[in-house]
Amino acid sequence: MKTIGVLTSGGDAPGMNAAVRAVVRTAIANGMTVKGIRRGYNGLMEDDIIDLGARDVSDIIQLGGTMLYSARSTRFKTEEGMADAIATCKKHGIEGIVVIGGDGSFRGARDLSLRGIPCVGIPATIDNDIASTEYTIGFDTAMNTVIQMVDRLRDTCDSHARCSVVEVMGRRAGHIALRTGISVGATAILVPEHNNTVDDVIEKIKATRKLGKKHFIVMVAEGVGGVDAMAKKIEEVTGIETRGTVLGHVQRGGSPTVRDRVIATQMGYEAVCLLKKGIGNRVVAYKLGKIENYDIYEALNMKKGFDEYMYNVADVTSI
Ligand code: F6P
Repeated sequence: MKTIGVLTSGGDAPGMNAAVRAVVRTAIANGMTVKGIRRGYNGLMEDDIIDLGARDVSDIIQLGGTMLYSARSTRFKTEEGMADAIATCKKHGIEGIVVIGGDGSFRGARDLSLRGIPCVGIPATIDNDIASTEYTIGFDTAMNTVIQMVDRLRDTCDSHARCSVVEVMGRRAGHIALRTGISVGATAILVPEHNNTVDDVIEKIKATRKLGKKHFIVMVAEGVGGVDAMAKKIEEVTGIETRGTVLGHVQRGGSPTVRDRVIATQMGYEAVCLLKKGIGNRVVAYKLGKIENYDIYEALNMKKGFDEYMYNVADVTSI
């Protein structure tokens, strides 16, 4: 391959820039040229293409967001959208693409690979909900942002002997809620993988209050939701003043942590090594400290389990 493209797609994640940088520089080191595709698959369909040299990706490793911009595209799923994307590839001589994003982005990469443009996916989403990899770019940074915010909530919660019910991101998965819940000493953690209810939370609050606890943090994954109603019920039943807080998109921004910068760099490097060998329809993955790769079909059919052991650790240590 002489020319490859790189795009970021879906919800942005801190560390995407580090991955773009690694892709560009690994490709250049291997004698290839790189085209940056802006706004995800939308830019591919609409010919929003830029040249990327080694210096164009200087000073981005420390930046959150993505210099290539991102989007979720529905038109790309249609035959017309796909035809436009392939026309853009032909026009710019793009022979392979590195797609940085989540499962939805990988489905697009699979469809393009099937139509003769080999693609390699790099898992990036703050949710860490991609089954083929133990780790997705952005997860660590997002969690560090969450605990910084909740540590602040804890100060005010402590001063007023209140309960704080905090919603963190994760539409389909409770991985952020679980690990940040442990990190902030949450009394209870509600995740979509379990069907615990506000009544279970109230029982836990009552039990820990008997053991002398005076302020309480309840972590709730977005997929469970309803923090304000939950806060109201906790206050009604226990008499403890309770407030709901939705952290929202603040979790997606900020300078990536060491973990995100390093893994993004490794994954970017590996993705280009695959394309260089002409191998497409793969996703790179983090497994047991190493970067592996899988067929996209296989990867999309994998199921990610929830860490029950850690969920139990959280429960036992939060009395
Ligand atoms: O990228 C993942 C994520 O941040 C989820 O945690 C959240 O549910 C969703 O994206 C929010 O999407 P949007 O930015 O489109 O509102």
